[in-house]
Amino acid sequence: MQSKPVAPIGINHLVINVRDIAESHRFWTDIIGLKQVGTFTPRGDHGPRRVMQFYSADHDGRLTHHDIALMECPDLPAPAADGTLTSAIGHIAIALPNREAWLRQLAYLQDQGVRFERRVEHGMTHSLYIRDPNGYTVELLYELPRAVWEGDIQEALNHYVALPTEGEAALEDRVEGVPVFGHAS
Ligand SMILES: [Fe+2]
Repeated sequence: MQSKPVAPIGINHLVINVRDIAESHRFWTDIIGLKQVGTFTPRGDHGPRRVMQFYSADHDGRLTHHDIALMECPDLPAPAADGTLTSAIGHIAIALPNREAWLRQLAYLQDQGVRFERRVEHGMTHSLYIRDPNGYTVELLYELPRAVWEGDIQEALNHYVALPTEGEAALEDRVEGVPVFGHAS
């Protein structure tokens, strides 16, 4: 008899409710870069009553069934114009494969006119936070090498350096001088 929970291997996917699935499709494909892999259309008594679309990231050159799905819910409230949080989801974190790819994505987003809400040097990731059309915060990150943070995850989680969000400075990212956690310096 199993006496304690079986440890899961990770989060498999996330389904988010969106007001306008075409608008959100554009964000998650043209801005974030996911690929649509499927659609669910309600039929009869089976499954959800709402239209869903399924999206995959790049998994070593292959697609998966879904990392993110959108479920159209036209009655959802619009995000507040003043930036007040309207979503129960804190944020959705999307990983880029490495620093170089992440920097190219930041330049692309800036060129597309996407507003950088926050940019943060964490101890284990370097992160950009933006908003999707429904007010969900999306974190785009690259992960620092495991050796940097695994020695003291608690300290790495608490390392927070806010970085510029506009202009050339918003595309700068230091490599030299980032702290290594859990090693006496
Ligand atoms: Fe995060």
